[in-house]
Amino acid sequence: MKVIIVNDPQEGGKAGFKQFKDALANGARCFGLATGGTPQTTYEQLRNSDLDFSSCRSINLDEYVGLAPDNDQSYHYFMQQNLFNAKPFAHSDVPNGLASDIAAECQRYDQLIREHPIDFQLLGIGRNGHIAFNEPGSPVDGWTHEVKLTQSTIDANARFFANEDEVPRSALSMGIGAIMAGKKIMLEAYGENKADAVAATIEGPVTPDVPASILQKHPDVVMIIDKAAASKLQKQY
Ligand code: GLP
Repeated sequence: MKVIIVNDPQEGGKAGFKQFKDALANGARCFGLATGGTPQTTYEQLRNSDLDFSSCRSINLDEYVGLAPDNDQSYHYFMQQNLFNAKPFAHSDVPNGLASDIAAECQRYDQLIREHPIDFQLLGIGRNGHIAFNEPGSPVDGWTHEVKLTQSTIDANARFFANEDEVPRSALSMGIGAIMAGKKIMLEAYGENKADAVAATIEGPVTPDVPASILQKHPDVVMIIDKAAASKLQKQY
């Protein structure tokens, strides 16, 4: 794992942008994208850049079950606002949280990922070490599936909703197996409340209890973390 420690999320956004730019220059055409507070500074840099994704494909990690694409808390909506309106891709896919047949939607999504292997995968991390919505205990070889969110994740994401009751209780998520199939992975983490998860991911044992720790086994991972998120690391990077 390559670890890049930055002062703050703004600087992290610039470092994240550089990774996107280099990936594009090196021929990446399929980008796995993430939502949440963390990637926002990177998306801001991308929006304000002259990078062109119009011949690229994007595949998002996850979506809440039950939220329509035009719901302002859906991940569809987030991606439109934070990236796609400014930087359209040739094709952009986000799981369909309104699918009446969830199993069929998961199959469709897996087929899409298999047909369009991800060259560059962006990730955030949950306070409990989850990636996408793969909560602790998720199988490391899993593909797209419906996830019942843990209370920790519901609490963490409640800040985006009017109140906790409005946070959906389940989501569709790419699995850890599909994430690990990405050619290159960039994980961003900012703030003290990510410090335990970051330390466990980089320096702890590889365990399903900390889903992101499996990234230690991937050959090309870059972690962009700010000083606060790095504060519980034992080693120097
Ligand atoms: C959600 C998303 C993850 C994200 C995590 C952290 O659960 N499904 O993809 O990494 O939250 O979010 P944030 O970046 O807002 O801290």
